[in-house]
Amino acid sequence: MQKTEGIQKAENEKGFKHFESSPNMENTKTVADSRAETMHLVRQGHLNGTGRLFGGILMQWIDEVAAIVAMRHAGSSCITASVDNLQFIHGAHQGDMVVLIGRVTYVGTSSMEIRVDTYVEGADGMRRVINRAYFTMVALDECERPCRVPRLALISEEERAEWAAGEKRREMRALRRREGF
Ligand SMILES: CC(C)(COP(=O)(O)OP(=O)(O)OC[C@H]1O[C@@H](n2cnc3c(N)ncnc32)[C@H](O)[C@@H]1OP(=O)(O)O)[C@@H](O)C(=O)NCCC(=O)NCCS
Repeated sequence: MQKTEGIQKAENEKGFKHFESSPNMENTKTVADSRAETMHLVRQGHLNGTGRLFGGILMQWIDEVAAIVAMRHAGSSCITASVDNLQFIHGAHQGDMVVLIGRVTYVGTSSMEIRVDTYVEGADGMRRVINRAYFTMVALDECERPCRVPRLALISEEERAEWAAGEKRREMRALRRREGF
């Protein structure tokens, strides 16, 4: 399978940096093309024994956003390969408005790293981060085999920094798999 060593930077005619591992410059999407935002109201059935939002429910909501982002980027069905850096920073409670924002941070050949930030939005519109997670999603073809995903056009400094960090996280995941963790 083709690996990311072949990735090289190029400028496309729109003038932004463009990571490309194939001569097909058409098959490229921006981070904004697949960004997704969902909202949920925390109800009694979502709570655990301590009266907080049950972690398993939040993980389902995060997984759904990651899947939406991945399907938008890949243009095909996608599955969750791994989850890491899932950090529960604060709890949420009944009546809270929970906002989840997902975006692609890195793409390999058939895999995509998706970052999902979860917030509680107050009545004043202010958002407080309660969770951050990175998912690896893999695009599948009609025979359910991993298939190639579009390249990612990086426009902002923040997107370039996420890509660089995503490369490191990918190496760490590969090391963990090789060592059986
Ligand atoms: C994910 C899965 C398709 C990978 O299959 P595989 O035979 O290892 O396929 P490949 O070796 O071709 O790897 C495909 C890609 O997945 C990545 N990958 C595989 N296992 C991974 C893992 N545990 N964590 C992160 N990425 C992983 C590979 O790095 C590769 O990425 P690349 O194409 O960008 O280089 C397979 O393990 C699977 O089907 N898992 C079950 C998924 C599932 O049921 N999820 C829950 C419901 S959605």
